[in-house]
Amino acid sequence: MEVPFLDLKANYFSLKNEIDTAIEEVLEKTAFAGGFAVERFEKNWAAYCGVNHAVGLGSGTAALWAALQAMEIGPGDEVITVSHTFAATVEAIVLAGARPVFVDIDKSTFNMDTKQLEAAATENTKAVIPVHLYGQPVNMDAVLEFARTHELFVIEDACQSHGAEYKRRKTGSMGDVGCFSFYPGKNLGAFGEAGAVVTNNPQLAERMRRFRDHGQTKKYHHDHFGWNERMDGIQGAVLDVKLKYLEQWNTLRRQHAQRYLDRLQDQAKIIGPREVENCRHVWHLFVVRVPQRDIVLRKLKERGIYCGLHYPVPVHRTKAFKRFAPAEGSLPVTETVASSILSLPMYPELSEEQIDYVCKNLIEIAENLTESENA
Ligand SMILES: Cc1ncc(COP(=O)(O)O)c(C=O)c1O
Repeated sequence: MEVPFLDLKANYFSLKNEIDTAIEEVLEKTAFAGGFAVERFEKNWAAYCGVNHAVGLGSGTAALWAALQAMEIGPGDEVITVSHTFAATVEAIVLAGARPVFVDIDKSTFNMDTKQLEAAATENTKAVIPVHLYGQPVNMDAVLEFARTHELFVIEDACQSHGAEYKRRKTGSMGDVGCFSFYPGKNLGAFGEAGAVVTNNPQLAERMRRFRDHGQTKKYHHDHFGWNERMDGIQGAVLDVKLKYLEQWNTLRRQHAQRYLDRLQDQAKIIGPREVENCRHVWHLFVVRVPQRDIVLRKLKERGIYCGLHYPVPVHRTKAFKRFAPAEGSLPVTETVASSILSLPMYPELSEEQIDYVCKNLIEIAENLTESENA
């Protein structure tokens, strides 16, 4: 049996007619950059997230950058985030000219350890970026309280958590700005690059809207610094069709996660993830910890099971960002999980047989690692 890590074809073919029709409408109206389809999606996405404004952008990375720009965060400023994330979270901070300050992660959720925020704050701190990694919300009560005390902006990196909820509030809707990526493999994925910001703050919404369009207040009146980060019309059309199915897909992901958890429980060598109380995890990724991860990864592949690594190198350990690394030994959880995490196949179209096949083989491989492999 083959179990791909992701099956974008199955997803497309399940909605082919609807999507093709929506794309055709954009083509016929030649509404390629922004336009009616993007505006319609923005309205529906804002409503889904429970906020007043959504601004469609070129990517999730652009969303983070737009948020920082709108808050006028730049040189001399510090932004607190985690190193156990996709590099884009940190790239945006660095591109804005600010300094990323890393706090460690919690060892059972792999999300920001909010107990460490206080010690990371300085007089230069301007914002905090919690990352709802793998689809699981960060402890937002703690983040919001910390931000309120220190008068900081909160930018939620919700690029992996479309539809996730913290105490019944959607991720992205609790901070000043929520940032989303619609990269094809995401829970809500475009047919190319796309992203969005959501906010209840009309000034920030207006600034981010201008930012994506070269800072123009009207054509050729560049009153602000800006960039070209408009969402493509075709992406807006695709996303608007797919949004109608997001809840259904997230429910399927939750069922798959439960099946994985049931089958992998009580396995001494495999540490499974867990859903935090009062949260709705949307399982963008299902991440376990195993000994000798690289060997397990290879052996699973030999049996037709394709896994991912999110992420094998903490951002502060990468060549590009090591200049921002904190004192040696100050991110112990971040450093240790990177070598043992393994993302199992996870997407709505996954079958029960495929999940059972993954679990059976994973258990078998983990149980039968030889002494030297286990060393
Ligand atoms: C946590 C996180 N932040 C930011 C991004 C950046 O999004 P994009 O790839 O759309 O630029 C991603 C996407 O992979 C992500 O997973």
